[in-house]
Amino acid sequence: MKLDMKDRADSFAIVRPEHLNHHGYLFGGQLLKWVDEIAWIMASREYPGYRLVTRAMDDVQFRTPVPSGSILHFHVNRARQGHTSVTYAVEVHADEPGVLRRASTPKEKPVFSTHVTFASVDASGRKRALPGKSPRHPASQHSTRTR
Ligand SMILES: CC(C)(COP(=O)(O)OP(=O)(O)OC[C@H]1O[C@@H](n2cnc3c(N)ncnc32)[C@H](O)[C@@H]1OP(=O)(O)O)[C@@H](O)C(=O)NCCC(=O)NCCS
Repeated sequence: MKLDMKDRADSFAIVRPEHLNHHGYLFGGQLLKWVDEIAWIMASREYPGYRLVTRAMDDVQFRTPVPSGSILHFHVNRARQGHTSVTYAVEVHADEPGVLRRASTPKEKPVFSTHVTFASVDASGRKRALPGKSPRHPASQHSTRTR
């Protein structure tokens, strides 16, 4: 996964036969797993030393079936930080390598989008405040607990 300095990250995956449902297209649960995992990796890198758990996944939209062999492109953007939570907007585009298209047709097409919210918890599983509005600070500087 590539991380840049603009609160966003990009990641890629190949859709293989073991990722398909019984209709022969990408299984939605597999896509949710990738999305959760990729967003969690970005959050964990932005908040080193913080224990983050998935609290919510909102507005899940599967827009089009994805065939085997597609390359998925995950765009992850930090959308909001609250007191104990941080939310990422995730958009997924698909490309089918080897499929010829007209030059005017976009190479990648949007197939999925959602918002994933992670909550910060302490070792006992209780909510724990995140650092101010500037992530990427070591956890030791921000030890305030909410309960
Ligand atoms: C994380 C946990 C301790 C939080 O406790 P809680 O009583 O639910 O706390 P809250 O309802 O205040 O939610 C915590 C944060 O998530 C936010 N949140 C809650 N529901 C949300 C939703 N549907 N969408 C976006 N954010 C949401 C709250 O606003 C709060 O953030 P803030 O402090 O920045 O305002 C508890 O929910 C938990 O343990 N959940 C299970 C987590 C888990 O196991 N995840 C793995 C997948 S099963």
